Amino acid sequence: MVLQATDLSYSIGGKTVLEDISVRFSTPELTVLTGPNGSGKTLFLQLLAGLIRPVRGEITMDGRAFPGGNNRLGSRVGMVFQLSERQILGQTVEEDILFGLSRLGLSRQEVESRLEECLNWSGLVTHRTQNPHSLSGGEMRRLALASVIAMGPEFLLLDEPFVGLDYSGATQVLSLLLSLREQGKGIIVVTHSLDAILAHADRLVIQKQGRIIADGLPERILPYLEDHGVRRPPLKLPEMSWLPG
Ligand SMILES: Nc1ncnc2c1ncn2[C@@H]1O[C@H](COP(=O)(O)OP(=O)(O)OP(=O)(O)O)[C@@H](O)[C@H]1O
Ligand SMILES: [Mg+2]
Repeated sequence: MVLQATDLSYSIGGKTVLEDISVRFSTPELTVLTGPNGSGKTLFLQLLAGLIRPVRGEITMDGRAFPGGNNRLGSRVGMVFQLSERQILGQTVEEDILFGLSRLGLSRQEVESRLEECLNWSGLVTHRTQNPHSLSGGEMRRLALASVIAMGPEFLLLDEPFVGLDYSGATQVLSLLLSLREQGKGIIVVTHSLDAILAHADRLVIQKQGRIIADGLPERILPYLEDHGVRRPPLKLPEMSWLPG
């Protein structure tokens, strides 16, 4: 699968905030997208997810125009927002996962089996009847992830998924992302927490003032980070023994 943006521009209030972005994402792939505050990362994810429409340019999925304005291909590109609590739509964990899943026209059996799979995968089985608003920050983030994944997207976009999480919470989210790549998904993570994830990324993209200014293997792009106002993580990234596989 290929998700491609071509000459994408976006303006808001007469100000151009994204300019001529052309970039291609594939599956399976874990891409880290970083850059200074206000460089347009969140807006770029919203465009890719079809939540807003570009002023110019287009987005395609495997060569076909990806509908702007709303994500009609429904589930093919999923997004986890920075404030994942705003994404909660159910009264219980279970209901929240079912919210999008039960609207896809799948058989009851398929819905049930995806629900169980996602509860197990996200480690939320024992929380299934809990009110999502009483979950911890880490559990809430995993629920947002599970509810999006239940819909079977090929690409998953995450906006600052590590913010507010402690080491163990961040570790859990990261290992879920790595398991998704193993399942063949394309994952794009917007983050400033580079030390947590960079050792596992296939690709590092830097965005600045609405443009993509670097894109490539993390070890190749790393030396340029500080020139662009992004703090460089420690060079020697620790081995992480808790990772699956
Ligand atoms: N609704 C809006 N109205 C006006 N300006 C906006 C709106 N949404 C975003 N912007 C502006 O667009 C620019 C890009 O915003 P965006 O949220 O995409 O940046 P970001 O790279 O995600 O930043 P951060 O790292 O702080 O999350 C910013 O200058 C922001 O002020
Ligand atoms: Mg942002």
